[in-house]
Amino acid sequence: MQTHPITGLFGAEITGVDLAAPITDEVASFLRQALADHLVIVLKNQAISEDQHYALTRVFGRPAVNPYAPGPEAHPEMTYIVKEAHERTGVFGGGWHTDLSFLDQPPGGSVLCSLEVPPYGGDTMYCSQQAAWDSLAPALKDLLDGRRVAHVGKPYGIKWAPPLEEQAMKGSTKRGDPDADRERMHPAVLTHPVTGRKGLYINPTYALRLDGLSEEMSRPILQELFAHCTLPEHSLRIRWEKDMIVVWDNYATQHYAINDYHGHRREMRRIAFWNEGLPAWAPEAA
Ligand SMILES: [Fe+2]
Repeated sequence: MQTHPITGLFGAEITGVDLAAPITDEVASFLRQALADHLVIVLKNQAISEDQHYALTRVFGRPAVNPYAPGPEAHPEMTYIVKEAHERTGVFGGGWHTDLSFLDQPPGGSVLCSLEVPPYGGDTMYCSQQAAWDSLAPALKDLLDGRRVAHVGKPYGIKWAPPLEEQAMKGSTKRGDPDADRERMHPAVLTHPVTGRKGLYINPTYALRLDGLSEEMSRPILQELFAHCTLPEHSLRIRWEKDMIVVWDNYATQHYAINDYHGHRREMRRIAFWNEGLPAWAPEAA
């Protein structure tokens, strides 16, 4: 098993692993450590079944149901993310975000498999919230360390609901939930339990305001931080191939699905997880 870094700061491709074979303890601990070290790991040429997808997810944690986009009744943890060739709407996951950070317990990560990819386009971008923390001005570190941030589920609530025509996966995504508008407080800075590295835990889709400051007073600070997090130097871009798997840490990265493949079909299968494989860690909801 080998690790090949994708950028100087984070992300790695893993080779020498066959995920269609039973996952040994040795492979599992290698993958867990690789995720802790690199935050986004990529495995190519892995045509895996739904059952094998579950088995891989269990390496990292307990499969998690997305309450706003649950899968079929038989396996609600499994979400098929599909954009048909004729669809002209926004894409599911467009805009920088960490998944569901407005929940009391946001998922710790996801395992995403590509089933059908466009000939070009449809890339996914990630940014490292640890790299963003490391390069942050000391005065801003002082402001954020130990502070909490309010998150709200804007796209899923009522107060900030996007126009219908901008909503992706309308049929399978729950919208208009008043509970999504409720503020949930999480630490602005998280410390990874394995590597001890600190990372920012804010994102422009869900973070609303800093604890102790109004939405208006928080806005310019948050805008500055969002721009800092997503600088090219803190980012990487995944070009998908069919049967590729990407696993990401949802507390220490943000991601962005690029909607530039009109006229082509794209189908992905995703299972999110709550951390259990590593020392469990989660932003503690207040
Ligand atoms: Fe996402």
